[in-house]
Amino acid sequence: YVIGIDLGTSSVKVLLVNQQGAVKHSVSKDYPLLQQQPGYSEQDPEEWVQKTIQALKQLITEAQVPSDSIKGISFSGQMHGLILLDDHQQVIRNAILWNDTRTTPQCKKIDQQLGGKLLEITKNPALEGFTLPKILWVKEHEPEHLRRTSVFLLPKDYLRYRMTGELNMEYSDAAGTLMLDIVNKSWSTDILRTFDIPAHICPPLVETENCVGTLSPEFARVTGLNPATKVFAGGADNACGAIGAGILSEGKALCSIGTSGVFLSYEDNKHRNFGGKVHLFNHGQKDSYYTMGVTLAAGYSLSWFKETFAEHESFSSLLEEAALSPIGANGLIFTPYLVGERTPYADAKIRGTFTGIDGSHKRHDFVRAVIEGIVFSINESVEIFRNYGKTIDTVISIGGGAKSDLWLQIQADIFNTKVIKLQNEQGPGMGAAMIAATGLGWFPSLKECAETFISIAKTYEPNPEHVSRYKAFYQVYKDVYPQTVAINH
Ligand code: XUL
Repeated sequence: YVIGIDLGTSSVKVLLVNQQGAVKHSVSKDYPLLQQQPGYSEQDPEEWVQKTIQALKQLITEAQVPSDSIKGISFSGQMHGLILLDDHQQVIRNAILWNDTRTTPQCKKIDQQLGGKLLEITKNPALEGFTLPKILWVKEHEPEHLRRTSVFLLPKDYLRYRMTGELNMEYSDAAGTLMLDIVNKSWSTDILRTFDIPAHICPPLVETENCVGTLSPEFARVTGLNPATKVFAGGADNACGAIGAGILSEGKALCSIGTSGVFLSYEDNKHRNFGGKVHLFNHGQKDSYYTMGVTLAAGYSLSWFKETFAEHESFSSLLEEAALSPIGANGLIFTPYLVGERTPYADAKIRGTFTGIDGSHKRHDFVRAVIEGIVFSINESVEIFRNYGKTIDTVISIGGGAKSDLWLQIQADIFNTKVIKLQNEQGPGMGAAMIAATGLGWFPSLKECAETFISIAKTYEPNPEHVSRYKAFYQVYKDVYPQTVAINH
């Protein structure tokens, strides 16, 4: 067996997977977000460690497999979060997470001081969620904390450190710090020098599939795992989501609708330029890349709608309701900017709308408009890829958006692509398990592992008549942002 640990934003999920890719058992444990002020989002790293220990203990007890049958462990982690350690490897302050938006002034400063160089080196623009602006915030507001820092880590790299005693960071996550020279795979001395960040706080870099060591005797003891279990570096959650869906070669793309929505496309060419409109990060597969756009409130928009207007319904009954409304929700259009929008606007202040409300509209029209609006928003990322010459014709869909036939067909019709739903889809945790399985040498490469671990459940073809009707609604959808931007700024 191998174990994939998915260290997410709201919970940690551990998956026990056999050599054929079947999930024998899984356990997940929740932890809270600490939001002391609007825009702040933090977590206590100790909470990640303790909840992971509890989850692993329960996994091993309930699955009833001998601990020496578990050969390897790897990770998927929430990206960008900042953890600072002192000389004694103690955590200095709570982790500042990817969805914390306090760093707008620091992003402006990065743009002013680096200009076009930032995009050249990191392939990404300065966004509130990324790590460098968080380091600059600490430097400005808590200088003593940065002075005491001996090393900074990202969430899953800290967890791995606590499990093995080894301090390092791997490329797919380091790519989201805004301090990595993406092409040369090294810390950018240029960026560090510009902001007077001591180079020694940047940890050694390793590849996703590298074995960084084995479990510490103490961690093995408290979880019941075997201390000889090999630990592999793992990857960023989006990289692992892509691995777990087999997005490992040119032409493959992924649509993941969870709390946020991600549209991700495999990329071989590290010099590919999308003008910084979508992110470009190192993949978990060696020397390959992926690009992605983000809709901040994807599944979150539907949860908000459910909690506000249909508290007692289940998601599946709401989605069934949506089928009572026709394409275009009888003229009702929703823009999902409940917490601002990342792609294509990078606008933290914009807010959402319902447009075209008619006295005859029923709740099912609203539900349909919400799920269509989420897909329209994701389609803005698809459009960027296409405008820059990328062919998008097959999309693997995962997450909450892949749980409904209606929603999957809407994706096929709005993206105008084939959409594939996977069998037993497990998200990034499966990608983490595949990294361990490949790292152990069970497969010569992640691609071969994917052939064994991943299979297709169903394919949804775009319907040409639906495609052209959606195109008309999409044009109206795109007009809403420029017409409403002034209200929110
Ligand atoms: C990616 C991003 C999120 C986090 C969630 O840039 O901010 O998708 O990875 O953990």
